[in-house]
Amino acid sequence: MASQDYLFAPEILDIDLDQSDAKFNPKLSIADPGEGLVVRPLAKQDYEKGFLQLLKELTSVGNISQEAWEARFNDMKQCKDTYFVVVIEDTTLNKIIGASTLVVEKKFIHECGKVGRVEDVVVSNDYRGRQLGKLAVGIMQPLAKKLGCYKVTLNCTDSMVKYYTGLGYKMEDNNANFMCLRL
Ligand SMILES: CC(C)(COP(=O)(O)OP(=O)(O)OC[C@H]1O[C@@H](n2cnc3c(N)ncnc32)[C@H](O)[C@@H]1OP(=O)(O)O)[C@@H](O)C(=O)NCCC(=O)NCCS
Repeated sequence: MASQDYLFAPEILDIDLDQSDAKFNPKLSIADPGEGLVVRPLAKQDYEKGFLQLLKELTSVGNISQEAWEARFNDMKQCKDTYFVVVIEDTTLNKIIGASTLVVEKKFIHECGKVGRVEDVVVSNDYRGRQLGKLAVGIMQPLAKKLGCYKVTLNCTDSMVKYYTGLGYKMEDNNANFMCLRL
């Protein structure tokens, strides 16, 4: 197989899922997420493996040419230590079936601290209910810790609050209102 052009070094995912608040029963690990499945960084070759089709199960994606995909992938890769798109591939079908993203925001406050933001969590319909969503979100906690973040945040709909609460996230009393100005 041709070598993969990864968004970030795969060794960064050498992390222990036990460091996450997500609890797995039966146990899952990043190295062993299930038969035929692999957890790894997004690769440029994932255009061919249905990554964008997977994102369509989350929200509107539009028509993205391979050229546009590669330009965005390269941009993200150049922003070192910022974009960590993690995918779950079903290697029996060469298909991306799950994904989540950690965006690392560098700040001046908190002594030049960093905040991780979890984005674009999705598991393909046929693979739901197998703890893969928990895995996709659960990875983000030790990953953010390893990358030096002091906290991880995310936005979700009311219907997903229970889901994320089960994975250790809390509504913070002083910061419960998410506001947005659409452009
Ligand atoms: C949300 C999503 C990622 C969950 O994926 P999944 O692989 O089915 O989740 P898991 O198998 O890891 O489920 C873990 C637990 O959460 C529960 N759960 C799953 N979806 C849930 C939901 N929408 N609301 C509340 N609980 C939910 C499961 O019942 C399971 O509970 P258990 O541990 O007590 O058995 C998946 O349904 C999805 O991709 N949905 C569409 C995109 C989306 O909504 N993404 C999140 C945007 S904020």
